[in-house]
Amino acid sequence: MAIPVNRGRTAADGSPYPDRRAPSFEREIRRMFTHIAERYEWFDHVASLGNDYVWRPRALWDLDRFRSDGPPIRVLDLGCGTGELARQVARHYPGARVFATDFTAAMVAKAAVESSRRAEGRRLDFGRANALRLPFVSESFDLVTNAFVLRNLSDLSRALGEMRRVLRPGGALLTLEITEPTAPWFGRLFHTYFDRVVPSLGALVRSAGPYRYLPESLRSLPSREEFLHALKRAGFVRVRAQPQSMGIVTTFLGEANPSSAEKG
Ligand SMILES: C[S@@+](CC[C@H](N)C(=O)[O-])C[C@H]1O[C@@H](n2cnc3c(N)ncnc32)[C@H](O)[C@@H]1O
Repeated sequence: MAIPVNRGRTAADGSPYPDRRAPSFEREIRRMFTHIAERYEWFDHVASLGNDYVWRPRALWDLDRFRSDGPPIRVLDLGCGTGELARQVARHYPGARVFATDFTAAMVAKAAVESSRRAEGRRLDFGRANALRLPFVSESFDLVTNAFVLRNLSDLSRALGEMRRVLRPGGALLTLEITEPTAPWFGRLFHTYFDRVVPSLGALVRSAGPYRYLPESLRSLPSREEFLHALKRAGFVRVRAQPQSMGIVTTFLGEANPSSAEKG
């Protein structure tokens, strides 16, 4: 008799619905992103009403204003998904080599296929890596980037510590994440859309679980101020939060403390 396998929580349509309190949370996150890998990019454009076309380039613009040294040569993008940010970073810095990594194999495969059609794809390398246990030697990157990844991590401070560890002193961190809107009236409008409309759109493409998890995951994140404190605790200085689109997303920036040795 076959032993039933515990595949984690699922929604009524059978799609994965990760439970942050479950010991299998990381596995459930991978299963969820495997489930949505093929339609992730276009669904992202639809659900964000096209705003995500602006958010990533604007984050790189914020980064340019933040950085004080020469263009980065070695860049690590964490949780690269289908590779949208990694490709934009490669186009933005034509002298850079970008390591695009993700812990979901289906996402890495999709990123590699999408990038093989573009000129900047020649300066991208792909691999699987867990943001909580980065397989890179310390101080090996000039820039670490990630977009819309932090909400999915089981241990935020550990991941920030890893990002700091692999950055050379003076290197920069760019994190783009969904955040609470800055104005309360707009927050109410945003939550009606994000908590109700987006999950209904998800249900139309048999992904009720992932798009119910999405608004839940926002609630697990610290506020902008708390996040800046977490960056400082992890060994970053000159930390900044630059809200975009009335705070729906925020570009977070930090510099790996140039005067401190690598942190544990
Ligand atoms: C919402 S997608 C964002 C993809 C991409 N960065 C973008 O801008 O569209 C989140 C990605 O983070 C990855 N991820 C989640 N937790 C991770 C972890 N602990 N380590 C590495 N990747 C992770 C998921 O597999 C998924 O591809």
